[in-house]
Amino acid sequence: MAVSKLYRHQFDDLWARAMRESPLAPDGAVDQLMSRLADFLDVEQIQHVAVHDASAYLYDLTTLGLSGMGWNVFVVSRAPQSEEEARSQAEFLDEQKRATDSIGFCFYLYLENERPPVNPYIGGSLHAVFLGRAELETVFSSPVPKMTLAAIVRQQTPVARLCPFNTSQEASGAMFYGRRSELALLVEDFTKCIAIHGARRIGKTSLLKQAYRILKNRYHDESRRVYYFNCLTWDGYLHACQRLAHKIDPRREPRMELSDRNIEYLLERRSRNGSKPLLLFFDEVDRLIDLDSVNNWQFFSLLASAKDANHVRFVLAGYRSVDRLAFGDRSLRYSIPNRPPEAIQPPDTPLLLQMASLRLGPLGRREADSLFVEPLKLTDVALEGETSLQESVWRLTAGYPFFVQFVGQLLFRIAAKRGDHRLSADDVTLVEQDAELREFLETHFIENTQQNGTVVGVERCCAMLFAHSGDASWTEQDFWEGCRRHKIPLGADGLGTVHRAVKNLVDSQILATCGARHTFAFPAMKSVLTSCFPNLSIAIRAHLEN
Ligand SMILES: Nc1ncnc2c1ncn2[C@@H]1O[C@H](COP(=O)(O)OP(=O)(O)OP(=O)(O)O)[C@@H](O)[C@H]1O
Ligand SMILES: [Mg+2]
Repeated sequence: MAVSKLYRHQFDDLWARAMRESPLAPDGAVDQLMSRLADFLDVEQIQHVAVHDASAYLYDLTTLGLSGMGWNVFVVSRAPQSEEEARSQAEFLDEQKRATDSIGFCFYLYLENERPPVNPYIGGSLHAVFLGRAELETVFSSPVPKMTLAAIVRQQTPVARLCPFNTSQEASGAMFYGRRSELALLVEDFTKCIAIHGARRIGKTSLLKQAYRILKNRYHDESRRVYYFNCLTWDGYLHACQRLAHKIDPRREPRMELSDRNIEYLLERRSRNGSKPLLLFFDEVDRLIDLDSVNNWQFFSLLASAKDANHVRFVLAGYRSVDRLAFGDRSLRYSIPNRPPEAIQPPDTPLLLQMASLRLGPLGRREADSLFVEPLKLTDVALEGETSLQESVWRLTAGYPFFVQFVGQLLFRIAAKRGDHRLSADDVTLVEQDAELREFLETHFIENTQQNGTVVGVERCCAMLFAHSGDASWTEQDFWEGCRRHKIPLGADGLGTVHRAVKNLVDSQILATCGARHTFAFPAMKSVLTSCFPNLSIAIRAHLEN
C-alpha cells in the first residue's frame, strides 16, 4: 500500500504538469507520464511520435493476455474542441495504427479530468479504448496495474473480442511462441540470404515480421536500414522496383521507370556502398516469383547482384514457388505435377542454391503447451486438470501453431458462453466435434493443395484415398496403387507424379513422413477428409475436374 501511495503522489504531480503542457515537448511531462505508465505496466515502449498537440506511443501489451494485445498504440491529447479537431484526432489515431502495423486495440488518453464523450469519428474498427484521469489513476494506484488496465479494456469491449487467440492475423509480441533458432538465424547472421518455405498458415509471416520488428527496433537510430514488403500484389519487375524505392527512398520512385540502373544505384547508395547492407524482408513472394520466371528473372537477378555486391541481405517467405527459386527445376517438377516436359526444364534461377533454406514445421511440445496455456492464464479462465488438458490439445493439434490458436479460440468461446470461465479436457472433446473446426481444417486442406489458385488434383486425390483407406500409414507405392485402382490419370511417369504429389503433401504439412511411410500430420485431418468428402468417387471426380 505504501508503494501505491508513493506512486499516487507522483501521479498527481505528473498529471498536473501534463495537463499544463502545450505544445507537447520532447521528454516533457506527457512523455514522462507515459514512460511511467510503461514502467508500471512492465511493458516495452517501442516507438514514439509527436505532433503539436498529440503524442503517440507504441507499447507491446501482449502480456495483458487479451485478444489484439500485440503492439498497441496509445494516443494522448486534450479533448477535441470542435468537430474538425475530433476528425483530425481520429485520423491521427488511424494513421498511427496503420503506420505501426498494430493489430487489435488502441488507446486514447485524454488529458482531461473528466473523460469526454466518445469521439464519433473514431470508428469501431479501430477498437479504441478511451481513458481519462480516473482510469489512469486507478492503473497508477493499483497493486497489479496490468490487471487493472485489462479490466478497463474488458469494460469497454464485448467478451468475445477479448479472446487472446487469433488465427486471422500473424502472431506478434508475447503471442509469438517458439521459433527461437529460426529467429536467431534471421536476426543474428547477416551473411546469408534466407528462403523460408512452409505450408499455408504455418507461421511464415509471424516469423518474418517478428524478425523485422526486432531488427527495426535494434536499429531504430537508422544505423542500419530494415524494410518489410508484402509482395502479394506486386505485378512484376517495374512494380517491384517502384515498391522498393517507395519505401527506401521515396523521392527516387519516379526515376525507376527511366533506367534499370536506377534501382541498383539506389541500393548501392542506401547501403553506403555495401558497408551497411540493407536488410530486406519479402513476404508472400510466390506470385512475384512466378511472374518473374517468365520475364527472364529480371527482379530476382537484380536482387542476386545486389546481394553479391553486399548492398542487400534479404529473406524471402512463400509457399511453393520459393522452392523453385531456391532449388530450381527440381521443385518446379514437384510443384506442378502435370506440366509438359519442356516446362519442367527451366533455366537455372538466379538464386539457385544461394540461399539458406528454412522450412517451418510445427512447434515443439513445450512451446505448443505454452501457446495454449499462458494466454489463457492471463484471462479469467481457470484450467481444470491442466496437464490432461494440455495433453488433449497436443494430441489434437500436433503443435501446429495456427491449429493450437484455433482450438484455443473455440475453447475460450465455450467457457465464455457457459459463463463458468472453466475449461477441462472434456471441452477439447466438444471442440473436436465442432463443425467450425471441420470447416477450418477443410479450408486448410483446400488452400494447401492449390497453387496460385489452381487445384492440384493428384494431391487432393492422394490425400482422400489415404484417408478413406482406414490404414495407419502408406508408402508411395500404396498411393500409386490407390490412384490406379480409382483410374486417376497420372501421365507417363506415374510413380514420379505420385512421388511429387506426396512430397508436396508432406511440405504442406498434410502428411508426415516416417522413413518410407506416410501418416497424416495430425489425426484430425484424416477424419475431416472422410467426413467432408464422404463419397470418395464423387470427391475424386470433383477435384480432378476442377
Ligand atoms: N510462432 C507463432 N506463435 C503463435 N502463433 C503462431 C505462430 N506462428 C503462427 N501462428 C498462428 O498461425 C496463424 C498463421 O500465421 P501466419 O499468418 O504467420 O502464417 P503464414 O505461414 O504466413 O500464412 P500464409 O500462408 O497464409 O501466408 C496466426 O494467426 C497464428 O494464429
Ligand atoms: Mg503469410
